[in-house]
Order: sequence, then C-alpha cells, then structure tokens
Amino acid sequence: MEIIIQSDSKEGDKVAARMIAGLIRRKPDAVLGLATGSTPLGLYRELVRMHREEGLDFSGVTSFNLDEYIGLATDHPQSYHRFMFENLFNHINMATDRIHVPDGMTADVPAFCADYEQSIRAAGGIDLQVLGIGTDGHVGFNEPSSSLASRTRIKTLTQQTLSDNARHFADPSGQPHHVITMGIGTIMESRQVVMLAFGANKADAVARSVEGPVCAMMPASVLQFHPRAHVILDDASAARLSKADYYRWVYDNKPAWQQH
Ligand code: F6R
Repeated sequence: MEIIIQSDSKEGDKVAARMIAGLIRRKPDAVLGLATGSTPLGLYRELVRMHREEGLDFSGVTSFNLDEYIGLATDHPQSYHRFMFENLFNHINMATDRIHVPDGMTADVPAFCADYEQSIRAAGGIDLQVLGIGTDGHVGFNEPSSSLASRTRIKTLTQQTLSDNARHFADPSGQPHHVITMGIGTIMESRQVVMLAFGANKADAVARSVEGPVCAMMPASVLQFHPRAHVILDDASAARLSKADYYRWVYDNKPAWQQH
C-alpha cells in the first residue's frame, strides 16, 4: 500500500486527479471505477478543471460506478446516477454510452448484477478504481461481514451507514436500506485502487484498515492484499496511524522514476 498524507483534502484531490489524468493520457480508452459521496467531490471538481483548462480528454474513457440505492430512479435527487451527472459527467466529454451506474430500479437484481460484472469484463476490466471509506470501514457498500470475495450484488446498509448518510435525505422514511454494490472481489480485480479519506471522522477506520489485521469486519483492510493500492489522506484522517511519519518520508523522498 502507498499511504499519501497531504495537509488537506484539496492537496489530496490534486494527487488523485494527477493519477487519473496520467492514466487517461497514457491510455485514452481507460476504464475508471468511480465512487460517490462527499469524499470524491473535490477530485471531480479538479478533473472538470483539468478538462476545461488543460484539455484532459475523456472521450474514450469508460466508467463503472460502485453502487446505487435500490428503489431510487435515475432522476431522484439522492440517486448516485444523478449525483454523477451533476458532479462530473455533465461537465466533461464522456460518451454517455460508456457510463455505467448500477440501476436501482431493476426488476431483477441478481440478473442485473451478473450483467454488470459481465460488462466490466467486456470493457477489459477496471484500470483504476476510486474509493471512499465508510466510518465502519465499508468500501463500495460492502458493509462489515461482507465476503472478501464478493461480487456485485444486493447489500443491506448498517445502522451506522444509514445515520452517516441521513443528512442527505430530508425525509428519513425515504432513505433506502438496500443497495446494489460492486463486490470486494470485483474491486480487488481492478488494476489500481485509489482510496481517499478526509477528516477526523475517518481516522479510526483508516488506521484499522491500513495498520490493522485484514478482516471482513473492516472491509477496506482487504486493500492490504492489493498490489497497487494508494491511500490518500489528510492530516486529520491520518491522525491515528502509528507510522504516519514514515509514510510522509517515503512519499516525500520517492525516486523520480517512481512518481505518478
Ligand atoms: C459511494 C461509496 C461509499 C462511500 C463512503 C464514504 O459510492 O461507495 O463507500 O465512499 O460511504 O462516503 P462519504 O464520502 O460521503 O464519507
């Protein structure tokens, strides 16, 4: 794992955006795995800026989103489909037929999930997966106790995740408990993973995932097995890491040939 600690989330967003831009410039038909939530908002703003000001070209890029709420239509204000269009896709030049977000209204969830997996394979697999982390350690919506080999499927949100996300729902009775999410096995097959975590409320989950035992009760800890996982943090989310000074030194002294 590469642990990258920046002074604040803005600097972290820039590091992540540089990694994604570098990939797209090297491989214009790159396949991205994308996340929603508060964490990647700054990253998406930076990618939009790079598209507008630096000509970063997304026309050949394909994307697969991690997850979606079951029961929310694509135009629902809290759907992840709408989130992605409002915060990224409407502002860059991606072809809409290359954009994939799980369908929260599908009538046949298992068949949809199998198709989603097949579409990822048909696209050649995910080159770079963007992840956030839940305060309970979830990645995608793979809640604690998820199989570390799981594939895209239905999951039920924990009470902790429901409370964390309740702020987005004016009417709590409209907050779905069920989601479709890529599995941990699906995420682990991506060639590169960039997990972002900012703020003190993520410090515990980050420390347990990066420095604790690999365990289904802390799903993000499985990234310790990924050959190319980068974890981008700010000072607050890194506060409980025992080796924070070491990670800072390593990053600050990276040989030029190893730079992103
Ligand atoms: C969203 C996702 C979730 C979030 C996590 C953190 O697509 O997969 O794992 O990344 O719940 O959410 P925020 O960023 O809102 O703290």
